[in-house]
Amino acid sequence: MNLKGRHFLKLLDYTPEEIEYLINLASTLKKDKKAGVDQKDLRGKNVALIFEKTSTRTRCAFEVAAADLGIHPVYLDPQGSQIGKKESIADTARVLGRMFDGIEYRGFGQEIVEDLAKYAGVPVWNGLTNEFHPTQILADFLTIKEHFGKLKGINFVYMGDARYNMGNSLMVGCAKMGLNFTACAPEKYFPNSELIATCKKIAEKTGATINFETDPIKATKNADVIYTDVWVSMGEPDSVWKERIEELLPYQVTSEIMENAGAQCRFMHCLPAFHDLNTTIGKQVYDKFNLSELEVTNEVFESSQSIVFDEAENRMHTIKAVMYATLVNTDKN
Ligand code: CP
Ligand code: NVA
Repeated sequence: MNLKGRHFLKLLDYTPEEIEYLINLASTLKKDKKAGVDQKDLRGKNVALIFEKTSTRTRCAFEVAAADLGIHPVYLDPQGSQIGKKESIADTARVLGRMFDGIEYRGFGQEIVEDLAKYAGVPVWNGLTNEFHPTQILADFLTIKEHFGKLKGINFVYMGDARYNMGNSLMVGCAKMGLNFTACAPEKYFPNSELIATCKKIAEKTGATINFETDPIKATKNADVIYTDVWVSMGEPDSVWKERIEELLPYQVTSEIMENAGAQCRFMHCLPAFHDLNTTIGKQVYDKFNLSELEVTNEVFESSQSIVFDEAENRMHTIKAVMYATLVNTDKN
């Protein structure tokens, strides 16, 4: 397997074998790091980390993974560069491509990261767009493999706004890797029909199933994984909170839902999560709507079935695998 020079923009661009390779490479890199193995094989390389939206996990994952590999990372924050305001993406790509060996981009439309990749001349990695969050899915799937020993045949239920980056990417990931994906939400929150059709076609070959269900009790029966995300994503206006709460509250992940699934079920969330009042936005929502827990209850979030911090750790190991595989010819190793 040689992925040197490849972009990592969305899972649709990768075969199941390539995705499996990245997950297995991450697992090896994780074990090696814990065993104290020196991983600085990429000494002398430089990567640019462009963040037009804020981040804790993705930024830290790229920075720590880069440091572990001997790579020098340069962080460009949402305000501090010329990108988009004074300089087009095409020009930025050609400038950064002359200085860096790879570029991470987190921002708005998927077309921006695709454009960056078109002009950069070096690997571009998608650190989240409105449509897709592919590095998150690698971490999620490594975590599922660690907990269940497999991906194929896992009953995976996504609750909430399934038409945004997380719902879309998880549906694609499940289709590619043979999981049984169910989106559980009111119909308007299902992914767009074109993406559904693409995933159903992929699923025919991999043995995955792609399902849609509006009833949370029916959807979560025998689920191995129940996954959710925030109801309002970065870049969306505050004015949508009212409607989202009204429409998605029946899809909150509660202890009743976890019990309905069964003791084997694990709770997952890409994070950050609104499960208590210890955040500014959480408090604002509480003042306005009198709700102290949103997409998941605190009880579920803090329960032994919750594996959200394993997931968060795995962001680093999987992002390290993506950088390693696309910057080095692993065939030679
Ligand atoms: N899950 C995730 O992407 O987290 P950050 O927004 O903190 O990077
Ligand atoms: N859907 C969320 C994911 C955050 C990791 C967002 O885009 O804000």
